[in-house]
Amino acid sequence: MSIRFDSVTVAYDGRVVLDSLDLTVEPGEVMALLGPSGSGKTTALRAVAGFVRPASGRVYLGGEDVTDLPPYRRGIGMVVQSYALFPHLRVEDNVAFGLKARRTPRAGIRQRVAEALELTGMAGHARRYPRELSGGQQQRVAIARALAIRPRVLLLDEPLSALDARLRSGMLAELARLHRELPDVSMLYVTHDQIEALTLADRIAVMDTARLRACGTPRELYRAPADEFTASFVGGANLLPVTVAARGVDFAGTGLEADTGDAAVGARATLCVRPHLVGLGEGPNRISGTVTDIQWRGATHRLYVRVAGHSVMADVRELKDPPAHGDPVTLHFAPEDAVLLPAGVLA
Ligand SMILES: Nc1ncnc2c1ncn2[C@@H]1O[C@H](COP(=O)(O)OP(=O)(O)O)[C@@H](O)[C@H]1O
Ligand SMILES: [Mg+2]
Repeated sequence: MSIRFDSVTVAYDGRVVLDSLDLTVEPGEVMALLGPSGSGKTTALRAVAGFVRPASGRVYLGGEDVTDLPPYRRGIGMVVQSYALFPHLRVEDNVAFGLKARRTPRAGIRQRVAEALELTGMAGHARRYPRELSGGQQQRVAIARALAIRPRVLLLDEPLSALDARLRSGMLAELARLHRELPDVSMLYVTHDQIEALTLADRIAVMDTARLRACGTPRELYRAPADEFTASFVGGANLLPVTVAARGVDFAGTGLEADTGDAAVGARATLCVRPHLVGLGEGPNRISGTVTDIQWRGATHRLYVRVAGHSVMADVRELKDPPAHGDPVTLHFAPEDAVLLPAGVLA
């Protein structure tokens, strides 16, 4: 079922924390809401769930205006970072909670609890108490509880933030599997973690202080970000301040080939190049500088190179004989791997 924000504005004590949000999550789609802390992600989710009332704008679920409906009438499942399980209830009773509140007949409750525990791999733990479970298992129970009501949409607010890195990647795969098994359930997934967003989402909505900055598929936002904020938030990025030249751009006195579209000659702009597309050694668009840092990352080396006062990152395949701090090096990148962005905070 689709979720639609129609110019939704939310204010707390007169301060706007969500500014005219327009966004549609298609039926069965996973949309990540990605942005730094305080950008308004949780507020957007709460507006869908009905826990906060928009100052203006409407929220639609499957085409129905639900702005004035109370939360329990919206058919929504919600999972939050802190699990929020009832400590005195067994797993099965935690999962049954929303069904009992909805006065579901007992036989129906039993079946749906079993189904939700099965889906989340927790069927063997129905009689346990939350304190007898690991963090990852508790979060599975929280997901089972959200699924038990057979929600039309699932809202997830940083559901993996409380887990350690290893558990997080396992749970990420679990969520992807869950989505495959529930292809009709739309998911709005709030996170500040770009890896989670890139891994799980069909599309990513990038939030920046109360506003939607960009929305697109992970590939679109990674390959062709529209601005510096999106470029740096979705994947690592070299953002080079440049001036548009007759052919290509000028970066600190070096001419570089790049598609400048219809940008005016002499205009300031930012050239975005992903670190893994920067090569070491001679090639097109060569720039020279001095190594300031080098990190071994297993399969790759990350080089930090000072070029005319700017730091440029290059992720290259593991080097047998890596350069050392202070060594002069030449870097290059293919003209088609660079994206020209409007001048932002760097210019
Ligand atoms: N209940 C509230 N009362 C007042 N201000 C709030 C409340 N909830 C959130 N805020 C403020 O709204 C802004 C957005 O918060 P939030 O939506 O939680 O951001 P995010 O989830 O992206 O970190 C923040 O500045 C936060 O301090
Ligand atoms: Mg939040």
